[in-house]
Parts: sequence; C-alpha cells; structure tokens
Amino acid sequence: MKTIIEPFRIKSVEPIRFTTREERIKILEEAGYNTFLVRADDVLIDLLTDSGTSAMSSDQWAGIMRGDESYAGAKSFYVFEAAVKKITGDEFIIPTHQGRAAEKIIFSILGGPGKYFASNTFFDTTRANIEFTGAEAVDLLNETGKHPEQSAPFKGNMDVEALEAFIKKTGKENIPLIVLTVTNNSGGGQPVSMQNIKDVKAVCKKYDLPLFLDACRFAENAYFIKLREKGYENKSVIEICQEMFSYADGSTMSAKKDALVNIGGWLSLNDSELALKCRNLLIVTEGFPTYGGLAGRDLEAIAQGLEEIVDEHYLQYRIRSTEYLGEKMMNAGVPIIEPPGGHAIYIDAKRFLPDLSSDKYPGQSIVCELYIEGGVRAVEIGSVMFGKYDKTGKLIPAMMELVRLAIPRRVYTQSHIDYVAEVVIEAYNNRDKMKGYEITYEAPMLRHFTARFKPI
Ligand code: F0G
Repeated sequence: MKTIIEPFRIKSVEPIRFTTREERIKILEEAGYNTFLVRADDVLIDLLTDSGTSAMSSDQWAGIMRGDESYAGAKSFYVFEAAVKKITGDEFIIPTHQGRAAEKIIFSILGGPGKYFASNTFFDTTRANIEFTGAEAVDLLNETGKHPEQSAPFKGNMDVEALEAFIKKTGKENIPLIVLTVTNNSGGGQPVSMQNIKDVKAVCKKYDLPLFLDACRFAENAYFIKLREKGYENKSVIEICQEMFSYADGSTMSAKKDALVNIGGWLSLNDSELALKCRNLLIVTEGFPTYGGLAGRDLEAIAQGLEEIVDEHYLQYRIRSTEYLGEKMMNAGVPIIEPPGGHAIYIDAKRFLPDLSSDKYPGQSIVCELYIEGGVRAVEIGSVMFGKYDKTGKLIPAMMELVRLAIPRRVYTQSHIDYVAEVVIEAYNNRDKMKGYEITYEAPMLRHFTARFKPI
C-alpha cells in the first residue's frame, strides 16, 4: 500500500518560534516546571490537547463569512441543527459554547444528592459537573481497559455485568442516566464497540434508563468500529455513526474535537419535557435556544466540520498518523497504552520511570523532559491531575501514571510527528538521568493547572 498522505493542501501557515535548550530550561524553571504555565509561543509542537486546536478548512472559513448573526431564528442555526440531526437522529438539538456547558445543563437538571450516574469512564469536567450537584459519578470500565500493557481492540468498553450489578445495588430510581464516552479519553482514547453500545443499551432498556453518549470523538470511534468490528468493514462511517447514536437517547458534545472547530458544543435529546427544561436553563446560562452561547458563524463552521469529519480519507489519515507515532515509540521500547488511541498517545510513566514512585510524579518528570529536550508540550494524566491526600497528608496516587500526547486535527505534518517521536525516544534513552518532582504550590481544586514544582 502507498503512504497514507495528509488529505489536504496547506494555504495558510502559522510560523513556529524556535527556542534553544538553554532558553527552554530557563522558561520551564520560571513556569514552576508546569507546562500549563508556559506561553504557547515558547512551545515548538503543542500536544497539550486536541480540543479546540483543529485547523479549519477553507469551506469552514467560508461558513464563517456566511454566518447569520440574527439573535433569534438565524439561518445558521437551522444549518447547524440539520447537520447534528443527520448524525444523531435526535429531535431536540441545543447548541452550547462547549461540551461542559451541555454537561452543566443536563446534570444540573437530573443530578442532586442521592443520585448516581455511571459511565465507562467519565471525563473530568463531566465528573465535576455531576459531583457539583451532590450526585455521584461511577466508572465501570472493563478490566482490560485498566491495563496499559494489554492490547485489545475495544478497551473503552463498559463492563456490562458491573453495570447491571450497579443498577441492582443502587436502585434504578436513583439513576437518572447512563453515559458512554466515545472514545474513552481518560482511558487512553480507546474505542467502544458497537456490540458494547448495544449491550449497554439492552441493560438500560431492561431497567428503563436513558443512555447518553459523551460524543466528543464519535467519528474516530466509528472508524475504529469499521476497522476492527466484524460486520462493519463495508459500512460507511456515517452509517456507523448513525447506528451508534441510534442506541442512545441523547448526547453531550464538545465540537472542539470531532466537529473540527475552535469552539462549540451541543446537547441533543428526544425527551420533549426534558428538552424544555434544558432550553429554559440554556436561556439563563448560555443564550437563546437558536444560538446557545455561540455566534452564527460558529454554528456554520460546526455544520461544515461535521461533513468533513466523517470523510474516510480524513479518518484513515487521522487514525493512521496517531498509530504511526505510537508505533515509532513502541519500536524504540517506549512503554505506551496499547494499542495507540484515536486522538492521542499515552506514555505509561510507571514503566518509563519504574524507580520513581507516584509521590515523585514520574509523569511530570517526563512532561518536563519532553519540553526541555525538544520544546514538545504534553500533559500529565496521573497523580498530579488526580492524586488526593489521606487524612495524614499522604498522597493517594491515581490509578495510572500517564503522559498524554494529544494530536491536534489537521495541524501537524508527518515530519512534525517524526520530530516528536525523536524527542520522546531521546528522553527515553536518557531516562536514567531523569529526576522526580515535588510540589511547592497547589490550589485546593484542579491543582494541575496552576501547581508549581521543583526537581528533587
Ligand atoms: N468529554 C470528553 C470526553 C472530553 O474529552 C472533553 C474535553 C469534554 C467532555 C469537555 O468538553 O472542553 O468542550 O468543555 N476534553 C479536553 C481534553 C479538554 O483536553 O481532553 P469541553
């Protein structure tokens, strides 16, 4: 087979500012060894997130010019609504400014003390929006999903037996909603199979519970189904997407991922009474129901992005380029979550730096090394992000110590990715010299954003 190429030409470019190793050492020290506190201009290749970092197409920019900025009933809303309906099949489409705004609305209405929600793995904003209402968020990931070194085609699947046991124990009257996150971001960008979506739906149906998709990366998930699940190899991605959504009663979406835009989201559902309540809350917090915190131009860009995201040449390139980075790293012995995910490669910091215990934050050590070595910005997803303290002040570590290299959509070329692989491999070869870190400042909540560190 010939090389899978970027399925686009480039007509507008953004220069990268080069820095020297000495400059980066100083920049990192000034930022308290926290790459969230480094200016983007001081980063060569920015793999902090795939969210809101996509390059828009010329047709999306044309949509920006077409945007109808009428307050109510704008033409752009109807274009957006039709594009979302085509994929989700849902009746009520509510635009929001990003994913967490949709989460805030649905969970404020359905949550509250004594309520429980379950998912394969809740993303942190979703969990935070549930817990903020006093409700509990429970992750029911299948066993292989919890082991970075075990390779399986659908490591994002929910444990269906655990779901049924959870419903019996908790009481279905205390569970407003079940959520499947596709792909499973917090668990390595791993997909959920169609069979698992169907099985979860069957349990939900048995107990009369609604199922929602956290649909951020729905097209990447659908492409994995096409590649890996029997019976789907000859179906089009759009058909697979439509089937995935057909088992769900609604969705929350961050259009900053698989709608190829820099801002936007939605809440979609079929329950008219619930939709009315959501729209009423939307008016208070986001805006009128035909714009929901977005400009008309943003709605146009999302609608066009949804056409482009299901293009199979795009998805082939997208999934292959992530896998390509993963393969280069695996071939050099760098331990990662296997197989490579859809939007990111996750380095397994426990195996990368086995001599550093969680309280020395091995993931943070790798993040700092990648920045110093090559100006590559990654993010720690381990005990810096999820660590808690017990009553004696001892760290309760996260389940996994990971470093995420998230790949923005349509932004970097193959040689950028080759460069990233070289930087990671260089860091791996120097791992004996890498030090642990201690925290010198931390905020009481979401400490990873603002914490400051010092090498031990
Ligand atoms: N759900 C998932 C699975 C996500 O990955 C995100 C965002 C959200 C919900 C929230 O969407 O940012 O538009 O409010 N993930 C980003 C990331 C921030 O870097 O993984 P949002």
